[in-house]
Amino acid sequence: MHTVYTTDPVAAAEFIRNGGVVAFPTETVYGLGANVLDSAAVAKIFKAKLRPADNPLIIHIADRDQIHQIAREVTGTARLLMDSLFPGPLTVIVSKSKAVPDIATGGLDTVGVRMPRLDIARRFLESCGVPVAAPSANLSGRPSPTTWQAVAEDLDGRIDCILQGGATEFGVESTVVDCSGSEPVILRAGSISIEQLRGIVPNIRTSAGGDETKRSPGTRHRHYKPAAKVVIIPHPDGVERSAGSAYIGIAGSTSPFDYQLVCTDADQYARSFYEFLRECDRRLIGTIYCQEVDETGIGAALMDRMRRAAE
Ligand code: TXA
Ligand code: MG
Repeated sequence: MHTVYTTDPVAAAEFIRNGGVVAFPTETVYGLGANVLDSAAVAKIFKAKLRPADNPLIIHIADRDQIHQIAREVTGTARLLMDSLFPGPLTVIVSKSKAVPDIATGGLDTVGVRMPRLDIARRFLESCGVPVAAPSANLSGRPSPTTWQAVAEDLDGRIDCILQGGATEFGVESTVVDCSGSEPVILRAGSISIEQLRGIVPNIRTSAGGDETKRSPGTRHRHYKPAAKVVIIPHPDGVERSAGSAYIGIAGSTSPFDYQLVCTDADQYARSFYEFLRECDRRLIGTIYCQEVDETGIGAALMDRMRRAAE
């Protein structure tokens, strides 16, 4: 398959309207989209990414009202979170309407909904005219792409089009909150912090391990992993390193690694993390040392991804 590259969201949306698959930027990471109402188009996402069939997709909408095309019931908590945080890096899980094919939700009777706020993403989704199912635009298991070049590295020749935007703002995925039950549960830490969510829904809880894998199948699969070995460390000094080692963190190191990135704060660390993992693979780095951060703000999502990369 020949992949078309474009900076025009309207041209990219044309491929969606014709049943194709298109990678597009959002403020979190790049997504790989298809018309959710067309099961043959959705199947192409799973094929291009080599994604396990039981891992449900997030459905992207251009405006709040579009949720009624894909949800059966929007609970009070979902409404509250949508009113405060849409458009933005939040996904709410609600019960699914019959219009959404089972392939998009891995057979679940719920659906994840997100309204991105990045301008080019919104113009793209508006032009699509339908809700767009989109997981992150990487080969399954690899770190999520934060640039169009990283998308091309994984998916060139496997998808119809890449909408070329800039590097993404947050660098980690949206926060996923299950609003389908009687009390809301955070299924995946992400760009919206737990503290921000507590400011809106004080009783929101984070899911306990066993429960989480049942409710959010995606968290069960291998994810975010580079080829290099990932090791989490408290501080770069005194680390006994092997040949071909890299370091990313906030503290500087007194002796340099073969490749390193010292970040000014946790926001920059999160924004740079996936691309750093990919760059280490390009440089054939053997071990990547990652400095741990406080699990507040974006730090909770960053530590979650770091642990998964290190598994
Ligand atoms: O920031 C993001 O969320 C990006 C951009 C492209 O929007 N998307 C993304 O998609 O990260 P993906 O497929 O890589 O991760 C989706 C996560 C998975 O952990 C999946 O299991 C969970 O959301 N999910 C989706 N629908 C669900 C549902 N109905 N119930 C529970 N979990 C769901
Ligand atoms: Mg993903």
